[in-house]
Amino acid sequence: MTKICCIGAGYVGGPTMAMIAKKCPNIQVTVVDINEKRIAAWQSDDLPIYEPGLDEVVKEALGRNLFFSTEVDQGIIDADIVFVSVNTPTKTFGEGAGCASDLQYWELCARRIKEVSTSDKIIVEKSTLPVRTAEAMERVLHSGQSTVHFEVLSNPEFLAEGTAVADLENPDRVLIGGHETPSGQKALQTLVEIYSNWIPRERILTANVWSAELSKLTANAFLAQRVSSINAISALCEATEADVSEVAHAIGTDSRIGPKFLKASIGFGGSCFKKDILNLVYLCESYGLQEPADYWRQVVTMNEYQEMRFVRNMLHSMFNTIAGKRIAIFGFAFKADTGDTRESPAIKVCRELAAERASVVVSDPKAIENAKIELAEELEQMEFEEDPYAAANGAHAVAILTDWKEYKELDYQRVYDSMAKPAFIFDGRNMLDHQALFDIGFEVYSIGKGRKTHLK
Ligand code: UDX
Ligand code: ADP
Repeated sequence: MTKICCIGAGYVGGPTMAMIAKKCPNIQVTVVDINEKRIAAWQSDDLPIYEPGLDEVVKEALGRNLFFSTEVDQGIIDADIVFVSVNTPTKTFGEGAGCASDLQYWELCARRIKEVSTSDKIIVEKSTLPVRTAEAMERVLHSGQSTVHFEVLSNPEFLAEGTAVADLENPDRVLIGGHETPSGQKALQTLVEIYSNWIPRERILTANVWSAELSKLTANAFLAQRVSSINAISALCEATEADVSEVAHAIGTDSRIGPKFLKASIGFGGSCFKKDILNLVYLCESYGLQEPADYWRQVVTMNEYQEMRFVRNMLHSMFNTIAGKRIAIFGFAFKADTGDTRESPAIKVCRELAAERASVVVSDPKAIENAKIELAEELEQMEFEEDPYAAANGAHAVAILTDWKEYKELDYQRVYDSMAKPAFIFDGRNMLDHQALFDIGFEVYSIGKGRKTHLK
């Protein structure tokens, strides 16, 4: 029986391994993590991450061929294939701070693998890493004297949070990078066979290791660039009489452009986009490619501009003062269907509102606990209230920051009646019926569309 061990039971490792275990009952999958609480949660009814449909996938395989454990060393020793799916946040210190990836967790893993392994293994990079990391890892793994052989593959994960199960079940493609040596190709085939248990062969792409690594960064950079591009146009729409939804529709029907990822918003968040673009920037800079570095950095700059523009719009429309005003935040997660708040634009928005001395009430169906952690330094000015009606009660303004479908279905007459007047609503996701809100009596502001106001 093939044995897989995955180091890191997070947003990527957990769902990916659960899917492999579900689809390949003849493979034993063990997910290990140093975080005991997380491992315990994976074995309980209350999974550590919220992801639609994930409960059923885990339930089906748990205890059969899917195991969670804190015994990292034992997991490695037993495995034929080790996936590494630990966090690689942006470095906050030293060379490349704010840009490069912090590889300390990855390197620790590599050293652990080298130290405890007694048999040959395939090592699979799952975490997003800068190009050429595999090479560095190989050096660590093959340093010193050992007869054990490690073959490193890059298998970047393209799943998006909130749709992880569907993305894993039916991916556009799976990408596996391996070395062009006989042992590299053999390892690559082993992984191809695992995925072909449920994914059609033509969707399993193979490449060299560096191409696979760079493709992941490039995919995220291109996706984020679409959001920044449409957000840049949204600012222009607000200054003219164009409507960004109409523009997005008109350009998206050009088959060369396509309709997806053209929703103007308060900005993109999530653990990947900013990190991966900055990674790309750092990579370009370290090869002396300043113009490509500047080109990609601008995608992040535009995102920061969009977040700030939203807050400034709130301030200016509310008569340039929000000190002491109650502002209800609807949604703190970086997008709908996840409790994840990493790099969520809501963090910046709430901090800026707090800096203006507003009294901020954060509401979210799944992300309140993470929101409290993100806003640890502003807690005195923050209130947390899961019920959106309670959050809006007495508020001067409501700001929609996450596209939870719950917010489409609220009784906005009830929300309006409970608010201070004039009642402002700022739709940072362009998801509500603005005319209906205006007819109720709201002052309606959105992204890339003219405001609707009763004030003269
Ligand atoms: C992303 C990639 O999509 C995925 O392939 C990769 O593996 C990891 O990074 P994720 O961060 O989970 O996934 O979320 P995604 O759905 O890509 O959304 C990112 C951000 O962009 C969110 O904050 C979302 O609200 C925002 N967004 C997305 C927009 O503002 N407008 C859009 O049209 C699309
Ligand atoms: P991602 O979104 O990339 O999956 P997460 O932060 O959700 O990232 O998950 C990464 C996981 O990796 C965390 O649960 C963390 O505890 C775990 N981890 C980090 N370093 C190690 C290590 N050396 N050994 C085992 N697990 C680790």
